[in-house]
Amino acid sequence: MKSINEAFEEICLKHKYIRPVNRASDALYIILKKIQTKSKKIAISEICCHDILAAVIEAGWEPFLVDISPKRGSPSINSYRAAIHQGCSVILVTNLYGNPENIKQLSQLCAENKVEVVEDLAQSLGAKVRNKLLGTFGKHVIISFGKTKQFPIGNGLLMTNNEEIFDYAKAFTIDKFSLVETPKFRKSYFVAQKKLFETNSFDSFKNIHKEIKIKKIKYDLPKVKTFKQNLKKFKNELSLRRERFLTLKEILEKKGFNIGLLKEGAIPWRLNCWYGNRNYLESKEISDNLRKKNIRVSHWYIPLSAFLSGDKISCEGAKMFNKGLIQFWLDKRAEEKEYNLLNKIIM
Ligand SMILES: Cc1ncc(COP(=O)(O)O)c(C=O)c1O
Repeated sequence: MKSINEAFEEICLKHKYIRPVNRASDALYIILKKIQTKSKKIAISEICCHDILAAVIEAGWEPFLVDISPKRGSPSINSYRAAIHQGCSVILVTNLYGNPENIKQLSQLCAENKVEVVEDLAQSLGAKVRNKLLGTFGKHVIISFGKTKQFPIGNGLLMTNNEEIFDYAKAFTIDKFSLVETPKFRKSYFVAQKKLFETNSFDSFKNIHKEIKIKKIKYDLPKVKTFKQNLKKFKNELSLRRERFLTLKEILEKKGFNIGLLKEGAIPWRLNCWYGNRNYLESKEISDNLRKKNIRVSHWYIPLSAFLSGDKISCEGAKMFNKGLIQFWLDKRAEEKEYNLLNKIIM
């Protein structure tokens, strides 16, 4: 398997323009501000980061949320086809948790319908479809190197073949704009999550994303060659992540967890698994117990339609996928410390 810096280099070569940005959400915002399309309606997966929803809305676009298959954790080609019929002129391909979506078929569908594809590699840098790297299929790519990602070297990148988008990206970053979660958003999110645990209701999430704004802030961005340099310290991470997934899978299966898919070509972000048919509070309690034993675990994304319409959401696939979802880390620290601890725990 290639090293991450070789894979990254190959993706870079496919694009005429590459611009560092403060974060991947900014890259999407920039693309949407300048892309020329028939409509301003974008298809995004129900399960994605809420900052992406905020970037879409800040750019003046209408989000069209596409439900996921609970088994695969991603939208089907048919649901993307339906989104195109509903007037979407851009599709953001999320490749959630490092699992590549069917980008080959999707690119063809989009080309036939004059729909633009944005490849989101926030969680899937280095992943492949039939031996071809994600990020080499479409004209526009967004990448996040945020601190929770597989390669947490900081900031993000926008890649495009569109000069107007590139020029705007330069202006946007020279003026130091970025998408920011305000303290009011963070507080509302915390309260909404607490309400979800207490009442199983999504209503408190409604509209809180409106407190995530494009603002002028302070940041300094590295040059593209610095990203390449910094990725070298994760040289073998692509194959190591898959190996760690398989090691952890064996440990967790013995403890009665159901393990999520590791698709061919995936570079897993975290290991998704389910421990029985739990509600949000029950799975949080399982996680809290694991955390007390120094094992890091995380959870679900709130389905994005909860932010738009609270409890009136109909994303059955996303809700089913989330039910009892627990995510274990797959980084070096997990391998060195947490898998041993986990082996000793009686569930
Ligand atoms: C799938 C996905 N896309 C985009 C983003 C946004 O990345 P950033 O935080 O760099 O804006 C995230 C962040 O969590 C993500 O998980």
